[in-house]
Amino acid sequence: MVVQALYKHFGKVKAVDGLSFGIRPGEIYGLLGPNGAGKTTTIKCILGLLEVQGGNVTVLGDDPLQSPEKVKEHIGYVAEEPLLYGSLTPREMLNFIASVRGLDEEEATERATRLITSLDVTKYYDSLMETLSRGNKQKVQLIAALLHRPQMLILDEPLSGLDARSSRVVKDILGLHVQRGGSVLLSTHIMEQAQTLCNRIGIINQGRLVAEGTLDELRALEDSAGASLEDIFLKLTDQEQSVRESMDRFRKAYEQAQN
Ligand SMILES: Nc1ncnc2c1ncn2[C@@H]1O[C@H](COP(=O)(O)OP(=O)(O)O)[C@@H](O)[C@H]1O
Ligand SMILES: [Mg+2]
Repeated sequence: MVVQALYKHFGKVKAVDGLSFGIRPGEIYGLLGPNGAGKTTTIKCILGLLEVQGGNVTVLGDDPLQSPEKVKEHIGYVAEEPLLYGSLTPREMLNFIASVRGLDEEEATERATRLITSLDVTKYYDSLMETLSRGNKQKVQLIAALLHRPQMLILDEPLSGLDARSSRVVKDILGLHVQRGGSVLLSTHIMEQAQTLCNRIGIINQGRLVAEGTLDELRALEDSAGASLEDIFLKLTDQEQSVRESMDRFRKAYEQAQN
């Protein structure tokens, strides 16, 4: 997958501002950035869900705006705020998605059952989606995204509602996926997730890529061998200064309140 000089503006807001990066087969790439950095917008452009002001996206050689159907076949997508089929059960929802995608019924059912078991949602297979916890909803979304064996998985802020055991299983699933030559794009604002899950990290701020590399490469870049990804991230996104400023403001307000 390649994103080249991508621009997506909403009025005056430059959500994506000349962003370029690529993901190779076998790689888990983390798009790491603070809230509002442009992660979700970038993902929507990759999926062909938004018209863009400039730039190119290709997913396994196909352009999402010109060949949306092909790109949908290549990609399994778990949205940040997933479209919910509240009045369906996971079983019904997965059957529905399999039929929309034209998958072999028996094969899809077997695959769904296997994933439902390994992600520990068997108990809720026949409960209404709207009654499931956030974590279980996310798991069903992930299973739905994997059903058609896509080459590329795109996860927008995943694992946020998952308990330790489930995030472990999700990590394993992503690991297997890339071992088989698939690729993963994962967006997150949580440093620890990027650090443990991703082979390569792109740090994004205000719609621009401010640094890219493996964790070690990023550390070398900032010439801070022992630094955590968090330190590097704050430095690169200029938040060090703003964290200090808001602490100062807080301290002043607090002192005034004491007088
Ligand atoms: N549909 C929209 N209309 C107007 N502004 C938007 C829209 N979607 C996103 N934005 C703005 O674009 C910027 C990037 O948002 P987003 O891509 O959601 O960031 P992230 O996913 O990194 O938190 C933010 O300033 C956000 O308010
Ligand atoms: Mg987002």
